Amino acid sequence: MAKVFITGATGYVGGDALYHLSSAPANYDISALVRDSEKASVVQAAFPHIRVVQGDLDDANLIEEEAKKADIVLNLAATNHVTSANAIAKSLNNAGKPVYWIQMSGATLFAADEIANRRFGQKSNKVYNDLEGVSEIFSVISDSPSRTVDNLIIRQDPSKVKTALLIGPLIYGVGRGPGNQRSVQAPEIARVTLKNKEGFKLEAGENSWSNIHVHDLSDLCLKLVEAAASGENGVWNQEGIYCPENGATEFGKLSGGIAAEAAKQGLIPDGTVKKTISGDEADAQSGHASILWGTNAVQKSSRARTKLNWQPSEVSLVEEIPNIVRIESEA
Ligand SMILES: NC(=O)c1ccc[n+]([C@@H]2O[C@H](COP(=O)([O-])OP(=O)(O)OC[C@H]3O[C@@H](n4cnc5c(N)ncnc54)[C@H](OP(=O)(O)O)[C@@H]3O)[C@@H](O)[C@H]2O)c1
Repeated sequence: MAKVFITGATGYVGGDALYHLSSAPANYDISALVRDSEKASVVQAAFPHIRVVQGDLDDANLIEEEAKKADIVLNLAATNHVTSANAIAKSLNNAGKPVYWIQMSGATLFAADEIANRRFGQKSNKVYNDLEGVSEIFSVISDSPSRTVDNLIIRQDPSKVKTALLIGPLIYGVGRGPGNQRSVQAPEIARVTLKNKEGFKLEAGENSWSNIHVHDLSDLCLKLVEAAASGENGVWNQEGIYCPENGATEFGKLSGGIAAEAAKQGLIPDGTVKKTISGDEADAQSGHASILWGTNAVQKSSRARTKLNWQPSEVSLVEEIPNIVRIESEA
């Protein structure tokens, strides 16, 4: 039975992936890192058959030891936690057996120029394709030295460590994990709309991000774990960049849709968007909102569809809006 070590089990992405992995037809010998003792009990109760490892990503020795026991490391807690990534790399490079590292990354990777120049709300036609355009994605990563973990992943020796980098776009939907079940980008637009009792857009609102339902993302994680467990070739390292998505949405349309839905649910008086905010005003409302609501990150997931037979099957982001607004109004 393949041994899987997963991080982020109490988080939105990692919790949902753990749920999906635990309910998979094949059995995996799962260990999950949890840093908080109370949360560790909750995770253990939710998944009695897994081994909960209590500890922190900052504990390099522990991460190294746990990675050493695993055949597959699913590092979903953080996109750029360098200490733990270095510990995983050290451990897996000395494994002396086929080992796999599936690492979470984020699509702000594609917005470096807009972030650096604080250029928000503008239209872009740029699409990053993870199959036909993968060499461009490798260049973006290597031109971004601050993305230390992404760079570490693409530098792994394929003869020693098989890697998959999951570049997460806007993720939506309710997670099924035992901890945080809420994403950030769309729920925060809804929270701010409800708090201020009016819809808004950031600058022109013409920028777009791709998006994926968290259940579909977990399904891709499972497909990668299955591929690792069966020793499948051709889906790792140079062929192991994944940009999951199920469409893209313009942020002005997303915030407009949220405002219209909030009015429909009787939560704000007027569902038309009359207010425009700047990047600084967005940041004052929600952490890093200028970046998370104001940039472009459109990607095309050709690789997983073609090579792993993965297909998103969940509702679209637009279809999820009523749920997002209802949940934020109840929170
Ligand atoms: N949500 C999205 O839409 C999205 C999109 C793209 C990329 N991402 C990235 O994916 C990563 C995970 O996102 P998320 O939404 O799942 O975040 P989240 O809900 O905040 O979960 C983070 C998880 O990592 C754990 N963690 C954080 N620091 C740790 C440490 N030092 N030691 C041990 N565990 C630690 C947290 O544990 P505790 O419960 O103890 O805090 C939690 O389990 C983040 O880097 C995020 O930027 C997210």
